[in-house]
Amino acid sequence: MTALPETRMAAEAEPELRLPVLEIQNVSKRFTTKRADTLALDNINLSVRDGEFVCLLGPSGCGKSTLLNMIAGFDAPDGGKVIANNKVVKGPGPDRVVVFQEAALFPWMNVRANVEFGLKLAGMGSAERKERARNYLRLVGLERFEKSYVHELSGGMKQRVQLARSLAVEPRMLLMDEPFAALDAQTRDVLQEELQTIWQRTGKTIIFVTHNVREAVLLADRIIVMSPSPGRIKREIEVTLEHPRSPDSHAIVDLAADIREELRNPDHIADVPGKRWSI
Ligand SMILES: Nc1ncnc2c1ncn2[C@@H]1O[C@H](COP(=O)(O)OP(=O)(O)OP(=O)(O)O)[C@@H](O)[C@H]1O
Ligand SMILES: [Mg+2]
Repeated sequence: MTALPETRMAAEAEPELRLPVLEIQNVSKRFTTKRADTLALDNINLSVRDGEFVCLLGPSGCGKSTLLNMIAGFDAPDGGKVIANNKVVKGPGPDRVVVFQEAALFPWMNVRANVEFGLKLAGMGSAERKERARNYLRLVGLERFEKSYVHELSGGMKQRVQLARSLAVEPRMLLMDEPFAALDAQTRDVLQEELQTIWQRTGKTIIFVTHNVREAVLLADRIIVMSPSPGRIKREIEVTLEHPRSPDSHAIVDLAADIREELRNPDHIADVPGKRWSI
């Protein structure tokens, strides 16, 4: 891996000294259709510091993607506000880039052109674009595939391209919505490990959506546990284990088992909303 074209000054500060880059204040969202009236988010409050790795964890329908879409600026809350980098979010911005479950890459462009796309839109010159794209392709281990086309890549490689493309615009925040859920278990393990290294090297703030407890424990500094109907934050769990973490380590396996046990009994969680796990 080579030097990155950016500093990690902010993320190198002690975690408690870092400033919030994201504030979610009393956010609510209701979806009303002919078939259903759903309170997808009910009074969500969350503050995320610069350089934190936060996982939103919860079962299907608890509002994880809805919340991520509000942070991305794809959709607006009915109540409350989202503040990113001290500005109320009114739409998408280059400071917040989303990595989706399925990589939406352009099949008619090669890998490097896909990574350069956002940079070209931003008006960056071709030499600088090429260098920037190559740096990030190297970071995700795809430097040898810059001329390949999308149909020549595996699912894991496509997700790496998507990650390189997102990182190339050098956003403050990466918003990841179950980015590894469609991959086979082995590829997922590799990418989870690599993401930890990339996070450490770039110092990005990452908000990562998953319904997989082990994935959350493996990756996050802080896990925000959500519950459905209505979508609420039930619990915060701090995970202070050093990165990179191994999915097979006893600490990871044990903590994941504890959390799964708690989640099986949602009434119990509701009874003790202030309780926090911390290891
Ligand atoms: N555009 C929409 N129109 C109507 N209802 C919606 C819409 N988007 C989300 N919902 C509803 O809001 C709730 C939260 O959905 P959301 O997609 O945020 O859940 P999720 O936690 O991301 O679930 P999953 O793990 O399955 O992706 C669900 O009940 C869903 O049906
Ligand atoms: Mg979702």
